[in-house]
Amino acid sequence: MKRILTGIKPTGTPHIGNYLGAIQPALGLAKGQSALFFIADYHALTAVKDPNKFRELSLQVTAAWLACGLNPEDVIFYRQSDIPQIFELYWILSCFAPKGLLNRAHAYKSLVDANRESGRHDDDTINMGIFNYPVLMAADILLFGADQVPVGSDQKQHVEIARDIADSVNHAYQKQLFVLPEPIIQKDQALIPGIDGRKMSKNYDNVIPLFADEKTIRKRVMQIQTDSIPMADPKDYRVCNVFHLYQHFASEEAIATRKAQYSQGGLGYGEIKKELAELILAHFSACRSTYDSYINAPQQIEAILEEGAKKARQIASGTLSELKQCMGLL
Ligand code: TRP
Repeated sequence: MKRILTGIKPTGTPHIGNYLGAIQPALGLAKGQSALFFIADYHALTAVKDPNKFRELSLQVTAAWLACGLNPEDVIFYRQSDIPQIFELYWILSCFAPKGLLNRAHAYKSLVDANRESGRHDDDTINMGIFNYPVLMAADILLFGADQVPVGSDQKQHVEIARDIADSVNHAYQKQLFVLPEPIIQKDQALIPGIDGRKMSKNYDNVIPLFADEKTIRKRVMQIQTDSIPMADPKDYRVCNVFHLYQHFASEEAIATRKAQYSQGGLGYGEIKKELAELILAHFSACRSTYDSYINAPQQIEAILEEGAKKARQIASGTLSELKQCMGLL
């Protein structure tokens, strides 16, 4: 059995891009394996500094994963900040992480490059949280002996950094202390278009939120941008934003029928958008009531996360004491 682990950063209200690109594939991968999923709240602190927003987003994101089918009986589900051992390991790993390796981390490097381009000091507005981000992520992963780490393509390098650090520690003590983790790259969210056709992202304000009220979801779907080819003329479904989302929710038959309509002409965008909105609403209708019940009872979420944290801390303290012993700290 493989051990699968992934972190979920609560930095935005869950949307359809998150569902198709992260939630659905990660839950699929976890089936029948030993899985640990956690809310990476300390990672989110590099981005979200407003306390009310922070609480609200953590709650929404936790509720969304539970509502979309994460079963805390099957997956150890916890909050990163509830596991103090992650932070102990984080320091230990910092003592093995070459600074030069972190200088090359994409997220940090692109901020430095942007500063340079606009004539600012290299370090302008860059805090140590951003710089050390990959080391904290390595601690998340290595503490639990994860074999596979499902992530978006933007996080691949971070998993490779974790692997490099693990290798250095193993080498330094001539012992297989850490499992070398492997990134599993999930469907790129860049391929899931938002209503303006760019990657669906909160940064572009083009998302279809998973659990907004029905009216909002219908409205967002109707706003999806399309071309102005007349209804009677043939169209290319491969470049149509509506069709792109449609194929994730419609039946195979319906997809085939629509494809033919696109090629032959006679398809009205208004009509397929309406169908898409109804498909989305139907797809999430059971999840929506679970989601609402969690949002209205945050103490239930707390109880689930605390249960998960107990299990996670147990694994974590085992790994950490073995490591400390090996290093001469114990
Ligand atoms: N950095 C990841 C992201 O932005 C979230 C994350 C934190 C993570 N720790 C992790 C993912 C450990 C996988 C494993 O999406």
